[in-house]
Amino acid sequence: MSHDVEVLSRADTRAAIRVFGRAIGLPAADEARISGAEAAWEPGRSLGIRAAGELVATAWSFGCRAAVPGGVVQASGVSRVGVRADHTRRGMLTALMHAQLTDLVGRGDVLASLRASEAVLYGRFGYGLATRFRTVEVRRRGGRGLRVDAPTSGPVRFVEPEGAIELLAPLHEQIALRRPGGLTRFLDWWDRTLVAPARSGRHLLVLVHRGPHGDDGFGVASFGEGSDFTARPLVVSDLHATDAAALCDLWRFLLDVDLAGTVRAAQRPLDEPLDLLLNDPRDVTVSSVDDETWLRILDVPAALAARSWEPAEPVTIAVHDGLLPANDGTYRIADGAAERIGPVSETADLSCTVAGLAMAYLGDRRPSELLATGWWQGDPAAGRRADRAFATSVMPWCGTFF
Ligand SMILES: CC(C)(COP(=O)(O)OP(=O)(O)OC[C@H]1O[C@@H](n2cnc3c(N)ncnc32)[C@H](O)[C@@H]1OP(=O)(O)O)[C@@H](O)C(=O)NCCC(=O)NCCS
Repeated sequence: MSHDVEVLSRADTRAAIRVFGRAIGLPAADEARISGAEAAWEPGRSLGIRAAGELVATAWSFGCRAAVPGGVVQASGVSRVGVRADHTRRGMLTALMHAQLTDLVGRGDVLASLRASEAVLYGRFGYGLATRFRTVEVRRRGGRGLRVDAPTSGPVRFVEPEGAIELLAPLHEQIALRRPGGLTRFLDWWDRTLVAPARSGRHLLVLVHRGPHGDDGFGVASFGEGSDFTARPLVVSDLHATDAAALCDLWRFLLDVDLAGTVRAAQRPLDEPLDLLLNDPRDVTVSSVDDETWLRILDVPAALAARSWEPAEPVTIAVHDGLLPANDGTYRIADGAAERIGPVSETADLSCTVAGLAMAYLGDRRPSELLATGWWQGDPAAGRRADRAFATSVMPWCGTFF
C-alpha cells in the first residue's frame, strides 16, 4: 500500500505529538510541552500521513552535531515516530522512514541517530545498534564509599534548575562532543528535563563541577519513591564530565547526599570505572545493559573520511546499502585514512551491510566479533586488521535520550 507522506506545518505540532503520545502510550502532553515543541519546530522536519483527513502517522527529526572517533559531523536525531494503532502494519512507518532518509540526505547529514522503542524495528532501514548503556546502582547505606585516593579536581556546587539551561546546555555540548556517540541536544530537550519537572513541583538536584580550567561537569538527580524515607534511591538522570577526576567528584558528591539508600543511574557508559573508584567494588551493581544509539550512516564516504583510524595493515570492505545506493561500494582503510576505491567488489577482504558498518563505526563492536556472529562476512585475518583500524580508546556513548 502506498502512502502520501506530507511535510507538516508548525500548526500540526499538537496533532503530531498527540499521535506519537498515543502510539507509545505516554500521558497527554501538557501545554508547555506543546508550546516548547512548537518553538523548536524547524521547516521540513516533521512528517506525517493522513487518513480521511486525520493525522495518523508521524516522524520528526532535529538537526544536531555528532561526535565520531576523532571528529564531529553534521547529523540528525530522529524521534516522535508513531503510527495510530488502527493504522499499523500497512507500511506507514516504511513510507515515513523512506521519506525521512531522502530528506536527511538532502540536508547533507552524515549520520542519523534514534532511540528505538523495540530493537527489531529499524535494522530494515539501515540503522545499526551503535552504542549501548548500562544501569548501575551504588549502595550508599552500608556501603564503603569512594576510595580516599580516587581522583579529585575541584568543588561541586548547586544551581537552580530554572536558570540552569544557559549554563548546562553549552557545557553539555562541549563535553558530549569529546566522546564518540555524543550528540548535541535540542532546546526543547532541556525544557522537558529541567524546567518541566521543576514546574510540576519535583525537586531536582542540579550539580556543577568546577575544575582547574572552569566548569567541566554536571549532574542532575532527584529522589525516587521508597517506603523508607531515610533510604530512598537517589536517581541520577544526567551526568557528564570532561575527565575522570570531575566525574569522580560528582559521584563522590552524589554518594554523600543524606537520606539516600542507594544512588541509581541509568544510561551510563559501559566503561564507567565505578568499581575502580569504590572502596568495595561490590557496592556497585549493574542491573541492565540496553541499546542506546541506533545509527544510520547516511553518507558512507563522508562518515569514513570523518573518523580517525588506528594504525593497521590495509583492509578493504564492501558495503551494501539497499536503500541509499550511493553508499554501495568498496572502501579501503589504510595509513589512517579511508576512501571509496570502486563499486562493491566480490574480492574485498570483508563485506557488510550499512547497518553492520554502523555497529562498528563508533567503536561499540569489533569487526571480528561481527564477523564471528554473521553480521559481517569475509576473512578472519582481515577482521583482525579491521579490529586494529576501528579501535577506539573509550566505549562510545551518548547519554541523551529522546
Ligand atoms: C512501530 C510502528 C511505528 C510500526 O509502524 P507500522 O506502520 O505498523 O510499520 P510498517 O507497516 O511500515 O512495517 C514495517 C515493517 O516492520 C514490521 N514491524 C512493524 N512493527 C513491528 C513490531 N512492533 N514488531 C516487529 N515488527 C514490526 C512490519 O511487519 C514490517 O515488516 P516487513 O517490512 O518485513 O513487512 C507502530 O507500530 C507504532 O507506532 N508502534 C507504537 C509506537 C512505537 O513503538 N513507535 C516507535 C518509536 S521508536
